[in-house]
Amino acid sequence: MDKKTKKELKFPEGFLWGAATSAHQVEGNNHNDWSEWERVNAERLAKEAGSKWEKWQQDKFSEMFNSENYISGRACDHYNRYEEDFDIAKELGHNAHRFSIEWSRIEPEEGKFDEKKIEHYRKILQALRERGMEPFVTLWHWTNPIWLSKMGGPENKKFAFYFSRYARFVVEQLSGLVDFWITLNEPTSVIANSYMSGVWLPQKKNLLSMLRVYKNLARAHNYAYGEIHKISPKAKVGFANILAFYEPYNKNSALDKIAVKIAKYFGNEKFLNLTKGKHDFLTVQYYFHNKLKFLGRIKNENKTVSDLGWEIYPEGIYHIIKGLRKYNLPIYITENGLADADDSRRAKFIKDHLGWIYRAIQEGADVRGYFYWSLLDNFEWDKGFWPRFGLVEIDYETMERKIRKSAWEYAKICRRNEINFIN
Ligand code: FCB
Repeated sequence: MDKKTKKELKFPEGFLWGAATSAHQVEGNNHNDWSEWERVNAERLAKEAGSKWEKWQQDKFSEMFNSENYISGRACDHYNRYEEDFDIAKELGHNAHRFSIEWSRIEPEEGKFDEKKIEHYRKILQALRERGMEPFVTLWHWTNPIWLSKMGGPENKKFAFYFSRYARFVVEQLSGLVDFWITLNEPTSVIANSYMSGVWLPQKKNLLSMLRVYKNLARAHNYAYGEIHKISPKAKVGFANILAFYEPYNKNSALDKIAVKIAKYFGNEKFLNLTKGKHDFLTVQYYFHNKLKFLGRIKNENKTVSDLGWEIYPEGIYHIIKGLRKYNLPIYITENGLADADDSRRAKFIKDHLGWIYRAIQEGADVRGYFYWSLLDNFEWDKGFWPRFGLVEIDYETMERKIRKSAWEYAKICRRNEINFIN
């Protein structure tokens, strides 16, 4: 007899299944600090592509040499097509959806809030509710209104004041339709990419700026946490945290272990500490497994990688979830995904990550939801449109949506609330 048996692995009842997007990456026609930066930097980014990416990537994605690739422009036109997109998500069995509100639309001028734009997001929320999808609403997914960026964006001492004032306005208007608020998306990604390596706007490499932004963003979360709870005491509030799984390159090297400690502290823990007591749930956004060498480069095995060359390492998500146990809070996986234009790795990627999440749940972790990044192909920041993260493919010429095969595989999981694999 075939020894292999199919085992059904059920997720906890009420588990949330969905996908995530962010305003600037999908809506189209945003005018904010990122859109301005794109205009100025598109040509440079196209020129640099030849030295930044490997030959196989350059051959496969020649769009990277075109400056248009780096302009978000009309993106996926999701601002107008959200109903069509939510119909697809519903058809795919999703019972939850994460998206973000674009600050520059709501407060285009300092202190002047646009009620019409709020109306748009109210319609979005109603559209999700009508389709039986629980909304997770992010208030800041990296983009700033122009007036604020002119004042230094998150480097400005008053950032927390401005952010919490905007948060208060939004929550007052929409609280009846939202139970889960995410204040900030991945503060440490901005700290690292904008103020440490200096590749994103405002392209600063400055330790003092970095520390200042750390402090201001933590304060922004803390203030907003208080404001949201004043308006909506029952709301659940958290921030979206990117968590990498760090390991020493050489397990016996004390120095490599120190490198891991430092990276873990600044990357995964410091922001949680600065916002202690101000989370109703924790989040995991998992993309990276980093084997660290002291004062050296990251060296991963990279047996399988995504189109971006990011290592696929599902086991890492298990270790990260286990590491959060000490906080004793519910956990939502608010992003996990890969760029995979030919859709050859996505279904396995999702299943494998879910397998490890399942294991963590079996061992007591309180994981309550999973949001694949992303529902749609979209504008991947300084890399532009060529990385294809979507469950749904976008034809950027016609705006046609095409559901990828892997999306149907994920749909089976969402509908049955279980994964099954051969063991
Ligand atoms: C995350 C971001 C998200 C997207 C994915 C690929 O760090 O939150 O906007 O760019 O990476």
